[in-house]
Amino acid sequence: MDKVTIFDTTLRDGEQAAGGTLNVQEKLEIARQLERLGVDIIEAGTPINSQSEFDAVKVIASEVRTPTICALARAVPADIDRAWEAVRGAEHPRIHVFLGASDIHLVYQLKKSREEILEMARSMVARAKNYLDDVEFSPMDASRAEPEYIYQILKAVIDAGATTVNIPDTVGYATPDEFGDLIEGIFKNVPNINRAVVSVHCHNDLGLAVANSLESLKRGARQVECTINGIGERAGNASLEEIVMAIKTRRDFFDLTTNINTTQIYKTSRLVSELTGFLVQPNKAVVGANAFSHESGIHQDGVIKMPITYEIMDPKTVGIPASHLVLGKLSGRHAFEERLAELGYSLSEADFNRAFQAFKELADKKKDVTDKDIESLIAEEQRTVSETYHLDRVQVSCGDRGIPTAAVRLISPEGQVLADAALGTGPVDAVYKAINRIVGVPNVLTEFSVKSVTEGIDAIGEVLIRIESEGVTYTGRGADTDIFVASAKAYMNALNRLLAAKRTAG
Ligand code: KIV
Ligand code: ZN
Repeated sequence: MDKVTIFDTTLRDGEQAAGGTLNVQEKLEIARQLERLGVDIIEAGTPINSQSEFDAVKVIASEVRTPTICALARAVPADIDRAWEAVRGAEHPRIHVFLGASDIHLVYQLKKSREEILEMARSMVARAKNYLDDVEFSPMDASRAEPEYIYQILKAVIDAGATTVNIPDTVGYATPDEFGDLIEGIFKNVPNINRAVVSVHCHNDLGLAVANSLESLKRGARQVECTINGIGERAGNASLEEIVMAIKTRRDFFDLTTNINTTQIYKTSRLVSELTGFLVQPNKAVVGANAFSHESGIHQDGVIKMPITYEIMDPKTVGIPASHLVLGKLSGRHAFEERLAELGYSLSEADFNRAFQAFKELADKKKDVTDKDIESLIAEEQRTVSETYHLDRVQVSCGDRGIPTAAVRLISPEGQVLADAALGTGPVDAVYKAINRIVGVPNVLTEFSVKSVTEGIDAIGEVLIRIESEGVTYTGRGADTDIFVASAKAYMNALNRLLAAKRTAG
């Protein structure tokens, strides 16, 4: 059975999605989780873009040792040199060079002839090859380019040393048959193709990214580029979890394997959603909240009798925690510790003590504490570890007759207790105004959403917000059984990120 190389581009193409803003620490945290997930290659960023993107790629290269760490570069010398600087410390470094190859890109964007583009591709792959062995090349917009020209470019870059050639459907235009034909054509018409791995990189503008990727694997491609939760430019990239689970579930059809530890999928999905602020739609395949819930009576009856009647995958295979009662008010430290270990958490003593305290407070307010509640609670604790201002108290008064009023108390970085109050158009507005009076950093709230973690009136509410300051977006999340408290926590989380970014920028 052939192995498919999983190339994860969550930190590069995924982070390019509108509103995606991860700091260096968050990128490192995701890279570590991708390593646990077992991806073969992490595309960590485009180092030429900014100092912080360079720093993120460099730190991932030095700390995440099992997968190959790849940096993206346009086909220009400065990009390639900078990419090499960022990945040279990796155990397995790769440089990925890309260049537009369709006439649409050549005429309207690059304003260069096919001969000029061919020479740029060849010479820039050769430049990268001077630095390292593992070089990937992508002819951008390949699915709208003339196939004969793609064959010509691929032959030239393989001769120049490319070890992987990646075929992007950059604008998500191709259909499965058409894209599969292109891949098959490449195997038939590029004479030196046996010296390189053929990869595919599909976008989801027509909802076909996963279908196009899977068809390419059928036609001989052996690397697939994808992102967690399918995040990425516009409608996103092919979703890693869908491709991997299709290969695993339909092994009879594909006859392929991957190195992915599928039990880490759900946790990775949650982490990426948490840190990027991109929520996962409930009906999303494999990781959506409804992906394994059965609503119709006939389906429920079947699943109780034998899960295979309506479930093609066992939720445990992707690491989805059970949603039944696991702990309650009377559960002790030992039971909580055991449950955390079963869910895959190993916390330091200090973190455990904080989490246990939070669990006790939650169990006082909420009768049934489920695995999903515990996950939300741990995420909430982790969010507050390195904060500048800490939310100590929040008090709200609202209703259809009074003026919404909020009072908040924060602890400053120096340990000072700071309190203030404000009126607002609504209770959340009042809370945010009161916080603003203390922190005093101008910003605009651009997004606010709230959802419940589990069913029931006493469920934990999770609030996601985005704020904008000087053209940069910061996301924030907060969870609590009281949605006004959750809103205050989310705002503090976003503000603390903003303050940390300002400190780093000097
Ligand atoms: O979509 C695309 O073409 C890309 C390339 C950089 C591979 O992201
Ligand atoms: Zn892309």
